[in-house]
Amino acid sequence: MKEYNDYSLLNHNTFGMDVCAKRYVEYDSERELQALIPTLKGDVLHMGGGSNLLFKGDFEGTVLHSAIKGVEVEEENEREVLVRAGAGVVWDDFVAWAVEHGYGGVENLSLIPGEVGASAVQNIGAYGVEAKDVIALVEAIALQSGQKRCFGTAECDYAYRQSIFKKEWKGKYAITYVTYRLQKEPVLKLEYGNIKAMLADKANVTIADVRQAIIDIRNAKLPDPKVQGNAGSFFMNPVVSREKFLAIQKDYPRMPYYEVEGGVKIPAGWMIEQCGWKGKSLGRAGVHDKQALVLVNLGGATSEEIITLCNTICCDVKERFGIDIHPEVNLI
Ligand code: EPU
Repeated sequence: MKEYNDYSLLNHNTFGMDVCAKRYVEYDSERELQALIPTLKGDVLHMGGGSNLLFKGDFEGTVLHSAIKGVEVEEENEREVLVRAGAGVVWDDFVAWAVEHGYGGVENLSLIPGEVGASAVQNIGAYGVEAKDVIALVEAIALQSGQKRCFGTAECDYAYRQSIFKKEWKGKYAITYVTYRLQKEPVLKLEYGNIKAMLADKANVTIADVRQAIIDIRNAKLPDPKVQGNAGSFFMNPVVSREKFLAIQKDYPRMPYYEVEGGVKIPAGWMIEQCGWKGKSLGRAGVHDKQALVLVNLGGATSEEIITLCNTICCDVKERFGIDIHPEVNLI
């Protein structure tokens, strides 16, 4: 276990905010976490890789971080394998492990920043796959009582970038392990965007090829947080009614969209680009020039600058399209 007071979080948030935590504790096991619980006073923030949050200022309570590691096969049959990973495993290391072992299901989620624990909280998703599609079981410790609890996927109430851990049980549980159901005979998901086109000249496409294609797409479109602070997609893609969608489509016949349960999803990045924001900035906060859904720290930006840019963009999108867009990034 590692513990620090007045600890700089600069290297623990990909937006590159230079803020401090009053107390920062990194634990290595469930038992260590349980022993810590009686010592927790005031606000508690459980952090993963810090890749989906924006600190508004110093954190006056305790920041907890899981360093629970390990990836192990729990059960298998001819078709499937259940793999249990520690919450502190770097997500992309887990994906790399799965692909190396020939287990399919997470290859489309290659290179998403963050850790295994957060995959189950955020229901991370990309290129037609969401974490919920592969999660079989979530193990967690209640931050009040220290009691261990296991959640089946249905209990987690998953939806697009949503789970019960972000709603009713926000801040109540620390996820310690996640078990994923992976396929020994992978069914490739190539329908999203230009993945199929990228792999067109390959004869027998493997999950390793899909992983590489996705790594290439992400590297081309998304800024590297080590070079330019950012938290991936800053906004969620809104879902609107069919009527609303058809009305907008009249004016913008080339608008991209996805039919989803309950309506039509319109890419917020496209709307932001239509509003003229792509590659533009306000102060030291910018809109990425290759993907308008991503806000970037152009160097030394304050959280106020990022939030001002966020609010200005939301107003412009509302004015032009009549649609409310909301941050995906958690404001702390
Ligand atoms: N688009 C534009 N301009 C832009 C950005 C996008 O016109 O500046 C258009 C694209 O041409 C495309 C559509 O919008 O037709 C969708 O774009 P893209 O495939 O890049 O995906 P996205 O909807 O912008 C979502 C996820 C990403 C994920 C990609 C791929 C959310 C909030 N974001 O972005 O996730 O990688 O799909 O599946 O759902 C993340 O969460 O950090 C993240 C990167």
